[in-house]
Order: sequence, then C-alpha cells, then structure tokens
Amino acid sequence: TTYQEPYRPHLHFTPEEKWMNDPNGMVFYEGEYHLFYQFHPDSMQWGPMHWGHAVSRDLLEWEHLPVALEPDELGMIFSGSAVVDWHDTSGLFGGGHGLVAIYTSASENTQQQSIAYSTDRGRTWVKYAGNPVIPNTELKDFRDPKVFWHHETSRWVMVLAAGQEIMIYSSPNLLNWTYESSFGKCEGAHGGVWECPDLFALEVEATKEVKWVMQVDIGDGAVAGGSGGQYFVGDFDGRTFVTEPKVTGTSDCDAAWVDYGKDFYATQSFSDIPAKDGRRIWMAWMSNWQYANDVPTSPWRSAMSLPREVSLVQERGAYELIQKPVSELFDRSENIFVDRTISIGEDITSIIAQPDVPFVLDLKMKNVDGDESGRGKMFVTLFQSDSKKGCTVTVDFEQGEVAFDRAGMKNSKFHKQFPAVTTAPFSAKAGALDLQLVVDRGSVEIFIDGGRRTMTNLILPEQAESYAIVVSESGGKTEVDCFGRTIKSVW
Ligand code: FRU
Repeated sequence: TTYQEPYRPHLHFTPEEKWMNDPNGMVFYEGEYHLFYQFHPDSMQWGPMHWGHAVSRDLLEWEHLPVALEPDELGMIFSGSAVVDWHDTSGLFGGGHGLVAIYTSASENTQQQSIAYSTDRGRTWVKYAGNPVIPNTELKDFRDPKVFWHHETSRWVMVLAAGQEIMIYSSPNLLNWTYESSFGKCEGAHGGVWECPDLFALEVEATKEVKWVMQVDIGDGAVAGGSGGQYFVGDFDGRTFVTEPKVTGTSDCDAAWVDYGKDFYATQSFSDIPAKDGRRIWMAWMSNWQYANDVPTSPWRSAMSLPREVSLVQERGAYELIQKPVSELFDRSENIFVDRTISIGEDITSIIAQPDVPFVLDLKMKNVDGDESGRGKMFVTLFQSDSKKGCTVTVDFEQGEVAFDRAGMKNSKFHKQFPAVTTAPFSAKAGALDLQLVVDRGSVEIFIDGGRRTMTNLILPEQAESYAIVVSESGGKTEVDCFGRTIKSVW
C-alpha cells in the first residue's frame, strides 16, 4: 500500500482499516518488535475488542498480521501486555520458551485477567484452559495488566488498574497470582478512572542510581482536558511502590504529566528489549476519548505515537522523565530543507521552508533581551496558506510556556473539544530553548527542552494546504538555528 488517503500518517503506525485504540502486548522477541492493539475489525468505532497485530524490526516499518485474539465466552479482549517466558516458568512451553499475553477478559458485568500463549513467534495463540487467572466479581473497573519479570525477587509482577488505584500482584509462573499492595489512593490526579499502568526501572543519567517509574493513565481530567497520562518516580521492592516526595512547590502526592497535548494515551513500554540495547521504549495511542470515535479519517481510525526512548534525569533535586523519538527515526532522514540561523527582530515574518511531510524541524532559540520590549513571544506556524490560518506553536519566553494551537484550522470543527490550545511549562535557561517538531500528516509531536516536556496533538490539515513553516515574533529579538529534514515514509 502507499496510503494516499488524507491525514494518513507516514511515520506513525495505523491499521489498514477500522477502529484502533490502545497499544497492547508490546514485546521484543527473536528479532521482532510486536505491537498488538485494541481493534474492532468490523467498524470504524469502538466495539467488541480484539487484539490486532503487527511486527517490526526497526520500530517504524510495520508488517500487518492477522488478528491475534478474538472475544470468547469470557468476553471481549481488553488491554494488556506480553512477556517472553524464557525459562518456562508457566510450564506451557515444554521446557523451551515462548510468548505469553496477559489481558483483561471484559464482559458487561465483569473484568477479569486471562492469559494466552504462543509457541510460534506470536503467529498463533492458544488461550489458557484455566482462564481467568485472576477472577473478579466485585470490582467494576479492574483491568489492563502489565507484567514484567522482577529479577531481585525472581517473580513475575503485575500492575493492574482498579478504579482509581493501581493493584500490584506477583506470581512464580504467570498462572497463580497473589495480591501484594495498592498504590495511588492519595497520589496523583483523580479526575477519572485509572487505566493502563506501567512500571519499570531506569538508571538516572549521571548518577546511575536506579529508580522506578510508574505510568498511569487517567480517563478524564488530564492536563489538556479529557484522557492523558501521569507518572510517578519512586522505589519498588517487588511488593510495594513508594513515591519520591517532590522537593519544592508541589505536595508529596503530585504526579507529573507524561505529555501536555491532547493526544497521548494508554502508554505502554516494550518488554524484553535485550540488555545490550538497554533502551526503555514506549508508545501511546494518539487520540483522546473526548472525540476519538469521531475523528474524520477513513477507512481507518487512530494512529500510534512514535516509539519514544525514555530516560530519567535528576535536576535541582527532582527526577524528570525525558522522552525522545527513537534514533531509528533519524536513520530515515532524506532531504535537509533548511539549515541556517535566522534573526527575527520585531516585525519580520519569514517563510523558512515548504517541505514535504513528514519532516522533523529542530529549532534552537535564543531570546536576546531587547530594550524596552523585553522578552517576547516567538511563533512557528505550520500548514499556513494564503486563506488559512494553519496551526501555531508559540514560545512565550516571559511566561516560560510553549503553546500549540490547532483551533483555527478549518477541519478542527468536527467536535467541540477538538479545537484546543494546549500548553506546556518550561524553565527557560537564560532565554534559550530547544524544540523538536515531528510533523506527519495528521499529527505534530513536540519535544521541548531536550524532551523534558512533550506535547502531542492530532491535526487535520486540508489536502490543499501548503506546508509552509513561518516564523515570526512579537516584543522580542530571537535568534533561531533552524535545521529541518524530511523523513522517508514507512509505508
Ligand atoms: C483505555 C481503555 C482500557 C481498556 C480499553 C478498552 O483506553 O479504556 O482501560 O482496556 O481501553 O478498549
């Protein structure tokens, strides 16, 4: 396929057709990254959930495979994860190894945890005869198991979303599970149901101290409105997760937002990436439950975010997560369409390029304090043409804020919650800031200040809209190093 439909992403994963939501079962095994996903093969809207399936060797070019898991007598197949059972702890692999998927069996009244296994590199799956492995009759919301092997205690650990808490379970064999503890009653944001948790260890850059990151999605009330993700940094001993108190400003219970845009949800990281690679890589569903069912694409609906490498730094006493596009993205660079420094005083508006999408634009800005005008604002407008406004990224050096505005785009009007302005705070280091914009047909992902903040938003530019990038400013004097590359389509 060449996928020439309007808004069809050329860097981001999409199903060929029909409805998709959360990424599921992300695991690396025998040279392949597996991506499963919440899929409704009969409709463009959410419905009885299956696990769709694709594999990749480089995280960007995906091969579509047949549906992996279909609804059964226990219900629909909701979100979950997958692991490699290397030492046959489950006894399902006759002494060898293979893949185990752990998912939620969801019917109208119950949500329970089940497993399935594959002995042929994920091509076919057998549901375990003893399902559900964690039965449930009491809790209404009890779903999205993410499982990993905890070396220190030599056991499997599961994090599970239960109402507005995370429950932690352990198991010697993936079949029998024991409840260990709960997290989150008095931590984080509680504007909606908690979903799709993840938990993993990261080495803090520079000090090599090991910290644990708990990622939790929230169905409503996230920073940009509607659904979004939060994270906590702390310690985990195999049973209990304890958060790191924040050093300044906020209360001990505050979480940090994973992404400041409207379209980054249900984040999940890959299991079993080999130690010699050593990366922690995650992806999210690029949509928002506010309007996901109505986004006017056809014949498919929804895309995944780029795979992002995550790491941890400690600055001024606080731990911060850093997200960057995986380096494989830049191996696909094609044409450099801009590589120069521009100096924009007061009222100069300059069209710096009209590249083909998809592209990556790196902007290194230095806000030179002017006279009485002081620190100003800088604007980057994308997809602007004579008659149309396009979408705008505004860097406000005085407020220390980056804003993304898609409200003025003609096709934003399909739903009242879509025409939004999203904002992310940054701490300006002497008036300097780096932005990296990954622009695809249908989305803009912004990596702010080396990935300390990210902002992911869908856009629906008209086919005829030109892809001009316009830089302008008010009340300041900014020098910008502009470096732009087009990226080869993955299809
Ligand atoms: C998150 C979610 C999960 C659930 C799945 C159902 O977007 O609501 O909690 O497992 O989607 O499709």
